[in-house]
Amino acid sequence: MSDAAWWKTAVVYQVYIRSFADGNGDGIGDITGLTARLPYLAELGIDAVWINPWYPSPMADAGYDVADFRNIEPSYGTLEQADAFIAAAHERNIRVILDIVPNHTSDRHRWFQAALRDEPGARERYLFRPGRGPGGQLPPNDWQSVFGGPAWSRVEGDPDNLWYLHLFAPAQPDLNWEHPEVRSEFEGVLAFWFDKGVDGFRIDVAHGLVKEAGLPDGGVLTAGAQHNATHPAWDQDGVHEIYRGWRSVANRYAPERVFIAEAWVPSNERLARYLRPDELHTAFQFDFLRAPWRASTLRTVIDDAMAGAASVGAPPTWVLSNHDVPRTVTRYSRSQPAGLSESEWERSRWDEEVADHDLGRRRARACALLQFALPGTAYVYQGEELGLEEVEDLPAEARQDPTWVQSGFTDVGRDGCRVPLPWINGPVPYGFSPAGATADPWLPQPPHWGEHSVQAQDGDAASFLHLYRDALTLRRELWETDAEVSWLDTDAGVLAFTRGDAQCWVNTGDAAVPLPPGVSVVLASVPGVTDTLPTDAAVWVRG
Ligand code: NOJ
Ligand code: CA
Repeated sequence: MSDAAWWKTAVVYQVYIRSFADGNGDGIGDITGLTARLPYLAELGIDAVWINPWYPSPMADAGYDVADFRNIEPSYGTLEQADAFIAAAHERNIRVILDIVPNHTSDRHRWFQAALRDEPGARERYLFRPGRGPGGQLPPNDWQSVFGGPAWSRVEGDPDNLWYLHLFAPAQPDLNWEHPEVRSEFEGVLAFWFDKGVDGFRIDVAHGLVKEAGLPDGGVLTAGAQHNATHPAWDQDGVHEIYRGWRSVANRYAPERVFIAEAWVPSNERLARYLRPDELHTAFQFDFLRAPWRASTLRTVIDDAMAGAASVGAPPTWVLSNHDVPRTVTRYSRSQPAGLSESEWERSRWDEEVADHDLGRRRARACALLQFALPGTAYVYQGEELGLEEVEDLPAEARQDPTWVQSGFTDVGRDGCRVPLPWINGPVPYGFSPAGATADPWLPQPPHWGEHSVQAQDGDAASFLHLYRDALTLRRELWETDAEVSWLDTDAGVLAFTRGDAQCWVNTGDAAVPLPPGVSVVLASVPGVTDTLPTDAAVWVRG
């Protein structure tokens, strides 16, 4: 692959900066901590980092409520530190992808503050509408926010009974993308960071910017469930023109800057529309992450994703977890539903079934080998390489995700996958904060995480961390090829394919299966694999 095409095969590491590494001891991850861990990321063998929003924010939604798109959140650092980080990452040949949040701003953004003061024209940049019913007592339509509760909040004391739209928290008012100033402002924000050398952007809620004209009723706004994503707020044709404009901004730079869309849409065909040659480069294909540990579902999902991406000449994009979903190990720690699981990966049944984390880890190791053997780009969410599990038992008073409050304390939300990383095999905070820290980590870490720390795994050749390092090194040799997936005939429960000179075998079934005679094992997710592949394991072989 030429250097310019790095993004077509890249392994991108997602840095949830608040929980990655705390440099100054206030219990919150920051740029100093991140910069100090660059050697760790380089050794892991990734090509790029994607950093969740690091802009000034009141943190109503962990930074997805941005108050100023051209600056750095003070608890994370300064613009100078950001510049230095970008330069230091580039020195190690690690690209830097930021997170842009164009659907909404913080309610503290100067534009929304001006709108609340009713400065001339200021409200037109957002979606203010009069309420329904006598005295405008009812919201303008029936939309229910992704986090729960109405998607509208009333402007207190407003003589016109106005409400404003927020698909997420009330502190995240939606922008009006029909407004030319909104469009030019975001193109300016892209250029601001591109000029600093940033290599690309992950686009938050890329499918939500344009709403159906007239804002007709549409009911509940679901986030993760693709099957249910048809809604007047989602995936409207008008969004594509915005991305054509963004692509022309990216194309002004050399090397070209790239985009990755977070777009929850009903099908890979709809997703491919975001990836047409004059729009975005890549888009997360979330079916892979929603698939249970079952060969048949995985194979269908993989085929569909590859066909969708190929229809527009884009690379497929594999993701097993991120900061919005339960961690992979935990999803695989219980019995696996048939088909694509719905409703939060069946979180509703989690109370009834105890998690078997050893089993979950075994499957997660195998699935990592599957992910890295596929064509296209792959994402690793921080802590995935350590095999961390979802922290399911966070105390209620520690929870920070707005979902917890907005759902009336029925949905525990996403804090369980956002717990700060363990670096050292010692007591809490396991080196997340330096010695002498003045505050505890912003979310409490579980008592046994020392054994999953980087330090504990570093010295253990059989660890999760070593598997990731080995896989990423060998991926360059084995799988960075244009060769397509060619499925092999296998027993039910087994997934196997050839790509180029290598084969990947995955066993999700109940019994060990023989490997083809004469192959040599290059990397296995469990020790001791030679000619048979045990259950819940994967292997890379050369034939
Ligand atoms: C998707 C982000 O990944 C999530 O964390 C956030 O809450 C919503 N978009 C709203 O910005
Ligand atoms: Ca800090």
